[in-house]
Amino acid sequence: MENMNELDAKTVLGVYSKAEPVFVRGKGSWLEDVDGKRYLDFVAGIAVMALGHADPEVSAAIAEQAAKYTQISNLFVNPPQAKLAQKLLAAAPRFDKVFFCNSGTEANEAQIKFARKYWAAKGENRTRIVSFAHSFHGRTYGGLSVTGQPKLQAGFGAMLADCDCSVPWNDPKALLAAVSGKTAAILVEPIQGEGGVNPVSPELAAAIREARERTGALVMVDDIQCGCGRLGTFLGSEAVGIEADMESLAKPIGGGLPLGAVLVSKAVAECLKPGDHGTTFGGSPCACAAGAVVVDKVLAPGFLAEVARKGEKLRAGLRDLAAKRPDLLGAVRGIGLLDGVEYSGDLAALLKALRADGLLAARAGANVLRLIPPLNVSDDEIGIALEKIEKALPSK
Ligand SMILES: Cc1ncc(COP(=O)(O)O)c(C=O)c1O
Repeated sequence: MENMNELDAKTVLGVYSKAEPVFVRGKGSWLEDVDGKRYLDFVAGIAVMALGHADPEVSAAIAEQAAKYTQISNLFVNPPQAKLAQKLLAAAPRFDKVFFCNSGTEANEAQIKFARKYWAAKGENRTRIVSFAHSFHGRTYGGLSVTGQPKLQAGFGAMLADCDCSVPWNDPKALLAAVSGKTAAILVEPIQGEGGVNPVSPELAAAIREARERTGALVMVDDIQCGCGRLGTFLGSEAVGIEADMESLAKPIGGGLPLGAVLVSKAVAECLKPGDHGTTFGGSPCACAAGAVVVDKVLAPGFLAEVARKGEKLRAGLRDLAAKRPDLLGAVRGIGLLDGVEYSGDLAALLKALRADGLLAARAGANVLRLIPPLNVSDDEIGIALEKIEKALPSK
């Protein structure tokens, strides 16, 4: 077989640093590479594969819809889209309507536009978007402009005007000082995922509520990494006590196909009319058919409680490891199955050693080992991952 690493390096734009394995198939929490080596996947397509790889019902839903049609545009009613919207709204009753797109950054792009349109429709000049240092909201200009990581914006010219993405994380006073009668919306992740697995503190959640009440600023939750069950609640906002006017979902909701969504309150929905926003592919029939299976399974009795229990088990195991190896491991953070542990050694080398031993894990921030397995990962698989992490730590 042609060497795929070489072909990729020669042909695909080098904006990613890719690891060595070339995968050919997956099943559940496992991936297999070209040499038949198996890897326990605690990356899950970066928190996408909530039901693991090749879930038979997801695959069947995609195949069934693909045999009917794969695209009709948003000029016509798309039944899988309407059915998925119904399921999402039943699971998140504070919202009134759903806008579908294709990715996380597009969902945040839509939230920013909807917030500004909301105030324009009210005849108020409120365009300012307030977000947090170390946040991550996507790579398009809107998402990037509200992402609190200057290194990601560097070299790309002017960002969107009137964005403040520097509010210190979990600093309630700083948030209250940053939000005023000119603020259109606050944008917040329930847990900063890319930023280092840092959950919203109860004090920050209270400050967000206070700022909303005091100024009327909308609250937009970026639930792209946390949403659809990952924190042991359907929405990440529920896990940290934030009441949102809009909430963006993506990663897991398409069962591995590209799909983003924005859940919108009635007050915001009423300010948007035909022509205000749109996308050719958004909410494609196959992605929505797959998404319906994901949402049904995540909401099946007991599923979310299991996510919470398994997350606690994973963090307890990480805390035990940290107690054994305080020379390398520090604070353990996370909710549900979005978890991480601070690592003071060479994280790239640790991730490489883990891959060599058949465990895929991710980085968060500068020094956090992030574990984001499928939500139906088994207790045994969690045990295997913990053993592999312990084994991969450089000896004292
Ligand atoms: C919290 C958050 N927001 C937005 C995004 C961007 O999503 P996408 O890569 O689908 O555009 C990500 C992706 O990692 C994310 O974790």
